[in-house]
Amino acid sequence: MKLDPHMTIIFGATGDLAKRKLIPSFYRLLERGQVDDRTAILCLGRKPYSQSQYLERLELKSFIDQADEAILKRLTAMIKYRSFDLENGNAAQLESIVTEVREQTRCGDSTLFYLALPTSIFGTVAAIIEPLIDELGWKRVVFEKPFGSDLSSARKLNRQISAVLDEEQIYRVDHYLGKELVQNILFLRFANEIFSCGWNRDAIDSVQITVSESLGVEERAAYYNKSGAIRDMLQNHLLQLLCFTAMEPPKSGYGNAVRDEAVKVISALRPPAADDVVVGQYVSPLSAGDSIRSYRQENGVPSESTTETYVAVRAFVDTPRWFNTPFYLRTGKRLDRRYAEIKVIFKEQLLEGLATLDTPNIIIIRIQPDEGIAIAFNVRKPGEDHESETVLMDFCHHCHFGPNTPEAYEAILASVISGEPLLFTRWDWLQGSWSYIDRLREVTSSLVFYEAGSPGPEEADLLLEQDGRSWR
Ligand code: BG6
Repeated sequence: MKLDPHMTIIFGATGDLAKRKLIPSFYRLLERGQVDDRTAILCLGRKPYSQSQYLERLELKSFIDQADEAILKRLTAMIKYRSFDLENGNAAQLESIVTEVREQTRCGDSTLFYLALPTSIFGTVAAIIEPLIDELGWKRVVFEKPFGSDLSSARKLNRQISAVLDEEQIYRVDHYLGKELVQNILFLRFANEIFSCGWNRDAIDSVQITVSESLGVEERAAYYNKSGAIRDMLQNHLLQLLCFTAMEPPKSGYGNAVRDEAVKVISALRPPAADDVVVGQYVSPLSAGDSIRSYRQENGVPSESTTETYVAVRAFVDTPRWFNTPFYLRTGKRLDRRYAEIKVIFKEQLLEGLATLDTPNIIIIRIQPDEGIAIAFNVRKPGEDHESETVLMDFCHHCHFGPNTPEAYEAILASVISGEPLLFTRWDWLQGSWSYIDRLREVTSSLVFYEAGSPGPEEADLLLEQDGRSWR
């Protein structure tokens, strides 16, 4: 789909997000012909870089695989770096930069403001861009997470930005929603009768949602230590995955219809009890000596930190479709491998003489890596009258569609430019998720420890064992 010519203004353009995700995503949109040279990318940062210094800093060839010289040339012509100090600058200065760049390029009147900045200055930026909001063309503003650290701070932030923007102009990013296989959950469920008819508590035993990371906190200790796994991952990404998996059929596949249903799920979450939650922190494995660090030894982490780097939760969605069906969610850093997937586990068919025990049908949605969808089901074992074997029917996304699946941030940029809010978090959803998280944090008891490089704490296995289940 061809996207509107416009100007994207990136605040915080000297940071990692611009370099790693936003600019490479513009390259791909350009390569695919979705944007053209009538789009300008105004990159704002405090540092007084020249245009060529900034382009050098972007390290385009390192962050764009197999970049084509001709497309790179067009991309660099679209990028305009200007130094602008948010703390001391004012709306008039910003306006004059925008006017100058608009005159220099052939970009349209519409503007996408991308705030790749810490939450604490969202309010300042909202005030500075206010005069530009009423000008010609559409104006949309993208906010990166975290959007608050609890319900009350999220409300305060929302009040600040709503004083300047309408909800339709606000795009709160949850980059998980931009992932191809997450967007596919809706298709799997609502474009296939074969799946939609049994997607309920009668047929389904439980759902497991895992986002496992092998990396630690890297250079982000200052942020992460205040946030922890609950607020960094569960409050947004995992709860969104839960909502997409559990929602009722929306009136249409478009933004607000889908978001209406997501809000109903988040509001139907049963308040968690203390024994529904396990929080953990990684420690160096005994055998590793000093070669692998504990979380508390990471640069910038206080030696007494009680921040959780792992969380597992048993959640219930109190709707007729799901009543008393557990959704087990878990995520953590420095685990044994990096993967994200949803497993929908069906009830077992126990017919004497046909199936062996513990071989339920499972639908596995592999969000990353090896994106795809697999179904585990039972077949007769050749030559054995009464024995079954579980086999996998596997749809491999890149085998079918090729290796160039759009990255989450390409989908995110394309959606904002086309004004489709599906991949973004609406305020009522956010309130619901913070209410749930605030309650969860109140009931969460003390930390347990797990070895870096392991699958997580044993206590997370017990959470399921208490229910006669195990992680699949
Ligand atoms: C971010 C979190 O939102 O998601 C990070 O802040 C986390 O801590 C990242 O590492 C995971 O995203 P992905 O796309 O690499 O799975």
